[in-house]
Amino acid sequence: MTRKIIVTSALPYANAPIHIGHLVEYLQTDIWVRFQKMLGNQCLYFCADDTHGTPIMISAFAAGITPEQLIERMHKEHKTDFDGFFVEFDNYYTTHSPENKYFSELIFNSLNKAGSIVKRTIEQAYCQNCKMSLPDRYIRGTCPRCGAEEQYGDSCEVCSGTHQPTDLINPCCATCRQKPTRQTSEHYFFKLADYEEKLKDLIIKGYTQKSVANKLDEWFKTGLKDWDISRDGPYFGFKIPGEENKFFYVWLDAPIGYMASAKNFCDKNKLDFDNLWNSNEYELYHFIGKDIMYFHALFWPAMLIGSGFKTADKLFVHGFLTVKGEKMSKSRGTFIKAATYLKYLDPEYLRYYYASKLTAGIEDIDLNTDDFINKINSNLVGKFANLASRSGPMLAKNLDSQLGQLDDRGKQLINKLTAAKDQIIQDYEQLNYAAVVRTINALADESNRYVEQNQPWATIKNDPEKTRTTLTATINAVRILTIYLKPVLPKFAQKVEKFLNARELSFNGTETILQNHKINKFERLFERIDKKQVNTMIEESKETQSPQPQPASTIEPIKPECSFEDFEKIDLRIAKVIKAETVEGADKLLRLNLDVGGIEKSCLAAIAQAYKSDELTGKTVIYLANLKPRKMRFGLSEGMILATGTGGKDIFMLSADHGTKPGQKVL
Ligand code: MSP
Ligand code: ZN
Repeated sequence: MTRKIIVTSALPYANAPIHIGHLVEYLQTDIWVRFQKMLGNQCLYFCADDTHGTPIMISAFAAGITPEQLIERMHKEHKTDFDGFFVEFDNYYTTHSPENKYFSELIFNSLNKAGSIVKRTIEQAYCQNCKMSLPDRYIRGTCPRCGAEEQYGDSCEVCSGTHQPTDLINPCCATCRQKPTRQTSEHYFFKLADYEEKLKDLIIKGYTQKSVANKLDEWFKTGLKDWDISRDGPYFGFKIPGEENKFFYVWLDAPIGYMASAKNFCDKNKLDFDNLWNSNEYELYHFIGKDIMYFHALFWPAMLIGSGFKTADKLFVHGFLTVKGEKMSKSRGTFIKAATYLKYLDPEYLRYYYASKLTAGIEDIDLNTDDFINKINSNLVGKFANLASRSGPMLAKNLDSQLGQLDDRGKQLINKLTAAKDQIIQDYEQLNYAAVVRTINALADESNRYVEQNQPWATIKNDPEKTRTTLTATINAVRILTIYLKPVLPKFAQKVEKFLNARELSFNGTETILQNHKINKFERLFERIDKKQVNTMIEESKETQSPQPQPASTIEPIKPECSFEDFEKIDLRIAKVIKAETVEGADKLLRLNLDVGGIEKSCLAAIAQAYKSDELTGKTVIYLANLKPRKMRFGLSEGMILATGTGGKDIFMLSADHGTKPGQKVL
């Protein structure tokens, strides 16, 4: 019976490129989806970019673009990276979509109606300068435990301790370095504990792997806390219905993005979403990494239960990628972006390597570059590609590309290969790809032994028909092994399909034997990896990472919107500098006396490091004429002259010397 299956991978954040760590997940999922499709099951793979939240808002600001522009750019980049690795989604959508807004509001309203949402006033860190509340990660300070500087508000990367932002010594805003203040604000909380029994039931019924269930047990024991699902503006996300400046926390709408992607797919393909998402006709599986277990094993199912949706059949949790036993690192060049990898290496090498390491467990998986090179060169090239390349060309050159028939030994070999099918299917189904690869390797060894024993390169000299028989078995072995490997190596399989000149390879085709059949020209399948390629890739990953994107400390968030009416209040005028003088005790300041069309004004400007006082007399500048005069430490300042630059020497006054008159309005 064909099954109907929906599969999701976690939605990657839209502020960073896809890297080889992410790919553990997307490749694990893609292999499973391809496997299901190859079995003849109807399987739909949905994903999307996770586009909301403070980091995205700040990244966009740092790049000088709007969050909408940033997420559009990243969406294209992510899609290109996934295509490059043959990760084939049925729909790759975005959480910044009308469908996601609709479902987020729907679920929020249902939870509210069910009494699962409460409002509570909390105290939060606030930056007066940036005019925004500061999430824990945007507060820096000295760790109260070990004294390490520059630690986050929630945890210390040096001693791994966790703390409250209020415990930090000398806390400051990560963006502008000012000391945060406290502010009270009303927030919405989801009462997770209301769902404790139902969540426990779900887990007992096998929602997660055992090792994950154990972790969840610990969380149940410490008690389920209310979850803050709102954030104050400025925030890039969906507004909470009925609120002016409050938004859904990104983690509320992110998993709802799975549904939104499915809904978008249904609408495009004229399918009934309710039936697809909420009936028992379809099985539903989420693939995620172990860092986001809490969200997917507790919050997400509780939200679904509370709003009357069904929960997934299973959550598949995987471990983290380490490189040579250590966390991926930008300075060591092991933080390798998908796009960088693709410049140097075949995507199927990584697909194969990860497959050879992946199990259903949540242990971390290690990419050891020597082991990687070795596995590709000795297994992929040495065992499989070799099997094909020592038989195909010989058959073409000497035997008119024509297969003959199997003899008894050939049949024995092929029977052995086909007999492994059920085990392989079971291992794929249970995410035990490492076992699949092991079985296939053993079968490839067996096939290569058969070739060694029959020595086609020797028999070709005087017994062409014997040679044909040997090559017929070899090519049938290639065919079966390729079927087994097809979920992992889709491109390789395509090349073999072409070369075999037969039907598309699928699991129910393992019993077919190609006899008396003409094959096509052989195309090279894989090249060996040269260690240099890997080294260059690592070097490049070091380089591109070293000029850090922009330390968070120089990036200021965008302030709350200013209306057109506000903007219209600004009165910009041309002003001529009558006199400029230094200010005693303030080496950054100059005092400027300005002629604003017959009216004289005096203002202080922090431009002394960029301009000398005597070079300014007679210059025309743009002047904000109606700024309320301010009494400052060094005297009264009326209005402000406009300049640009990052500060210090890098300041350029905006001048308007082309026939403008003092006092004239600036449009
Ligand atoms: N946006 C959230 C997920 C929201 S799902 C509703 C997120 N994004 S992420 O970009 O940080 O990670 C996406 C997925 O990749 C997660 O499942 C995460 O566990 C996985 N990985 C990210 N880095 C990884 C490694 N270094 N190793 C293995 N998986 C990793 O979390
Ligand atoms: Zn600030």
